Amino acid sequence: MNSKWDNKLNIGDMLIDNEHRILLLLSRKLDLTIKMKRPDVEQNAAIFELKKIAEFHFLSEENLMRETSFPGMREHAELHTELLMEFNFRMNGIKKKTEFSDDLLTFLNRWILQHIVTEDTKIAEFLKHCQSRPLAENLYESFLPAAKS
Ligand SMILES: [Fe+2]
Ligand SMILES: [Fe+2]
Repeated sequence: MNSKWDNKLNIGDMLIDNEHRILLLLSRKLDLTIKMKRPDVEQNAAIFELKKIAEFHFLSEENLMRETSFPGMREHAELHTELLMEFNFRMNGIKKKTEFSDDLLTFLNRWILQHIVTEDTKIAEFLKHCQSRPLAENLYESFLPAAKS
């Protein structure tokens, strides 16, 4: 993964794009925490932090899909559930030291980026042509940093 956010990952919804940035940032933080062999208590805290932001982010996307009546909402939410299960499984491996840390960043990259590129972009594409807009969309620009191109 590059050390910077790649603007090609922007899907065009400011709220979702900003949440994706935080997800990627915290996945790098977790990777560093483990590669630097920080104490277990810090590793577990970094795992918990990433898990919480992932749960929060998936909920945000599901709310957005509901607000705009996105037709693939149920399938997309099921994918989120699978992603969380996969995350929990892999993190148990880290905690039990059966997972090699070199694999972690590869896993996290695939785990986050593949879903953004293949699935989240479908929501963004739908929103471009959607009449019903996300709630509070008019506030995005006042509160969120705009993506620089
Ligand atoms: Fe997402
Ligand atoms: Fe998603």
